[in-house]
Amino acid sequence: MKNVLKMLLIIAVFVSCQEKHIDKNVSLIPKPRKITFGDSYLETGTSVSIKSAEELQKQAGYLSGILPEEWAVTAPKDAGLTIELQIDKTLKVNGQEADESYKLQIDDDKITITGRTKAGVIDGINTLHQLLLTAPRVDGKKRLPELTIEDYPRFAYRGMHLDVGRHFFPPEFIKKYLDIMALYKFNKFHWHLTEDQGWRIEIKKYPKLTEVGSIRKETLIGHGGRKRSEYTYDGKAYGGYYTQAEIKDIVAYAQERGITVIPEIEMPGHSLAALASYPELGCTGGPYEVATHWGVFEDIYCTKESTFDFLENVLTEVMNMFPSQYIHIGGDEAPKTRWKECPACQRRIKEEGLKDEHELQSYFIRRIEKFLNRHGRSIIGWDEILEGGLAPNATVMSWRGTEGGIEAAKQGHDVIMTPGETCYFDHYQSKNKNEPLAIGGYLPLEKVYRYEPVPESLNAVEAQHILGAQGNVWTEYMPDSKQVEYMILPRMAALAEVDWTDKKKKDYADFSKRVKEHFKMYRKLGYNYCDH
Ligand code: ACM
Ligand code: ZN
Repeated sequence: MKNVLKMLLIIAVFVSCQEKHIDKNVSLIPKPRKITFGDSYLETGTSVSIKSAEELQKQAGYLSGILPEEWAVTAPKDAGLTIELQIDKTLKVNGQEADESYKLQIDDDKITITGRTKAGVIDGINTLHQLLLTAPRVDGKKRLPELTIEDYPRFAYRGMHLDVGRHFFPPEFIKKYLDIMALYKFNKFHWHLTEDQGWRIEIKKYPKLTEVGSIRKETLIGHGGRKRSEYTYDGKAYGGYYTQAEIKDIVAYAQERGITVIPEIEMPGHSLAALASYPELGCTGGPYEVATHWGVFEDIYCTKESTFDFLENVLTEVMNMFPSQYIHIGGDEAPKTRWKECPACQRRIKEEGLKDEHELQSYFIRRIEKFLNRHGRSIIGWDEILEGGLAPNATVMSWRGTEGGIEAAKQGHDVIMTPGETCYFDHYQSKNKNEPLAIGGYLPLEKVYRYEPVPESLNAVEAQHILGAQGNVWTEYMPDSKQVEYMILPRMAALAEVDWTDKKKKDYADFSKRVKEHFKMYRKLGYNYCDH
């Protein structure tokens, strides 16, 4: 009898421990600043009501769209669980008054998300979304531990870029890309819309940009060989573009997720598709052809007056589609060959008292900057815009290493870090033989993770000019959206932690454990990813 009692006692203790068992290993990426766990948990399966202030109606709509199916949204009186969204302009985290601060509190019958700003509320929603997607199921129900997360980002600019010029991706995929960005709390989508190989944005005043410029007659197969004569082509016409209505819809979709869409209209180089559409924009008058292979092309916009009229008209329509403060105007890889031989460009150099073609490029960018500044917008340009003198208010995107970024910050300009060696997601991720064809390079996950965007050579004041880091996705060798997913996942997760998490809190071994949980999430969501 004594033994039976003892046995019953052991069973009772075991059962109560089981009931109390709460998995306190959440796999959040990026890692939040502060997380404290309670002693209970919340289960999905009940109905939910969302409570929010009038000003947070849009955020409440976004939240209701990402809740798991088993959590039907109902009226407050029928709900087993309430999720409340609120703004508290005095919210501090770790004593800091950071704009994007948020607090996420999960109790057993209530979830509260408090943001210092709307952006903070969205960050909190995205954290909850990730918790739900990665939560373990117990008896068929998802279980979230009771917890409080207090958090804010290290950098204000957390960017992902996508080149839709080399290959075109449909609007549905752009939305999926934005969904993945939101999941990892990226807030700037740099949309590279014009290229030598295709113009992808409808401009009503210049219909040929899409009628002619969005289509190339064929595409290079593979790397083509070293000599142009060895190149082989697929013989198939390729094209696509976004209508203004599609663009506005995508901009609104991004906005709902706390993401600003920054359009890039390339100039003066990478403009062959525009020249093929309107040959009078080039120095020689053409004829030109939309490019069918990759690289840098010598035909670029001429600096004659009519080119500026064209670009201002294009940018006027662009500003109407994109509310973004920043407009990216490219500026990279513009050979000066044609300008050296062009009477109009040489006349411009003389009349403006410029030293050479580099100063002519600087004149070009400054003129465009003045136009955009007059309309209340600011420019971002690739680091070549430093050559010949930086436009006064320009933000520099440092891609040829970090030197351009360092130089710009020392001159007092804002900088976005996208150096090729740590931020180019078109490079190979592994040295495996079966790795799909990529442009070249080698950028494994760990190297992305260990990237530190603030160069040591900057002092504290200069370091303030580093706004954040961005992953670049050039798509010469990404013919479809599945390949884009493969190239960004999971490297984007690593970059998310570079941009968000405090330097001191980063830990690659710990990140690796969390990223494995994210692989499960990718499989559930049907995302293609690289699992080396
Ligand atoms: C670039 O990769 N040409 C900016
Ligand atoms: Zn010219």
